Amino acid sequence: MEETVQLWPPRPLQSKKLRCLAPMVRANSTPLRILALDYGADIVYSEELIARRLELCTRKENEELKTIDFVDASGKTTCLRVDPVREKNKLVVQLGAAEGECASRAAAVVADVACGVDLNMGCPKPFSTGGGMGQALLKDGERAASIVKSLRRTLPASVAVTCKIRLLPEISETCDLIRQLHAAGAVAVALHCRYAGVDPPKDPQLPTQKRVFERLRQEHVAFREDCALLANGDLYTHEAISNVDAYTDGVLLARPALLDPSSIFRRSEERLPKLDVLRQYVRYAQRYDAHPKNTKYVVQEMLAKRRHPPDMRGVLRDQLASLPFKHDAVTATKTLGDLAALVGVAATPTSQEPASDGRVYSDDYFDERKRKRPFPASFICLFALMTTPKYFARPFVGAEKL
Ligand SMILES: Cc1cc2nc3c(=O)[nH]c(=O)nc-3n(C[C@H](O)[C@H](O)[C@H](O)COP(=O)(O)O)c2cc1C
Repeated sequence: MEETVQLWPPRPLQSKKLRCLAPMVRANSTPLRILALDYGADIVYSEELIARRLELCTRKENEELKTIDFVDASGKTTCLRVDPVREKNKLVVQLGAAEGECASRAAAVVADVACGVDLNMGCPKPFSTGGGMGQALLKDGERAASIVKSLRRTLPASVAVTCKIRLLPEISETCDLIRQLHAAGAVAVALHCRYAGVDPPKDPQLPTQKRVFERLRQEHVAFREDCALLANGDLYTHEAISNVDAYTDGVLLARPALLDPSSIFRRSEERLPKLDVLRQYVRYAQRYDAHPKNTKYVVQEMLAKRRHPPDMRGVLRDQLASLPFKHDAVTATKTLGDLAALVGVAATPTSQEPASDGRVYSDDYFDERKRKRPFPASFICLFALMTTPKYFARPFVGAEKL
């Protein structure tokens, strides 16, 4: 019998495998999400949005941009800007949450623009774990399950509840956690195939990745669970993706989507010149009136070597060699107009008011050099706590109650 293909939520073991843009703080604003969709992504995740902040956001129709904006309590910062046409049935909003009621209130704010709400259970940053969010939930399956239950109870059936986790020390524990989340209402679990707290380059797990997913898939089939499994982590090539495809229901791609968005989401290796990708990204930044600093950050990340495994840096070297400017020239740009001129896109008038980017972002994801310097990180956290209690102290309030 012919298989009925379901795009979202993914169905276990069907032949259609999902290609998703993984959540990335700061990078996954509207332009990157739309670019990924252009290049073939089936689903795009938002960056992690802190539930305690999102629940206070107001929904605004932006007539000029034809977007739906979620503006924070200050009235000045757009936390999420959605293109309701392009992102219809494609957007998963990821939440950073420590308890169910708050998560549900936050999810309700975005329920009419999202096809899924994802619970972040993998973020290792002290800001997250200190507030009982991210990786703190990995060690507390019951609390994670209660958040999922609350989301499932309160969201409309059309919005899937999903989780993003990391590996627990034993495969059997990871399976138990997936079962627990599924029993609570999650229909898909994305597994970042790394142990909590271990980041590259110390832990290149790619050779074992296939075995991990093979084991997990065997357990799933044995228990006949109807929970899709999505693979994440170091899937930089079509070969790496097809290795895990046999055991999973699709993949989430983060850094590979910054390095090579035009090819990684497609079924073929066909790759556009980097300059074309940068131009299209900048055009979308103009189209969605993205914050210039945010746009520059993403362009820099698209050209930066530091996040990628050493064997992928050659790809980037070739991309950089093909550009008519050097990386430093991007650093020197001050406005979106400068950036547009650099990549060869005509400038368009943009509003003077920043459209997003109101958070204090940390750049230390996977940056080993920064991780080895605990003092600045803790100093920044302390400074943030002292200076912006409205945003940063709130998660800790929730954690105290738990
Ligand atoms: C810049 C950056 C920001 C990230 N932000 C998030 C986030 O908001 N939520 C999350 O669950 N993971 C976040 N991650 C982790 C990625 O989603 C992903 O799990 C990780 O990068 C491994 O996948 P990759 O090898 O495809 O990059 C981030 C990663 C990067 C590089």
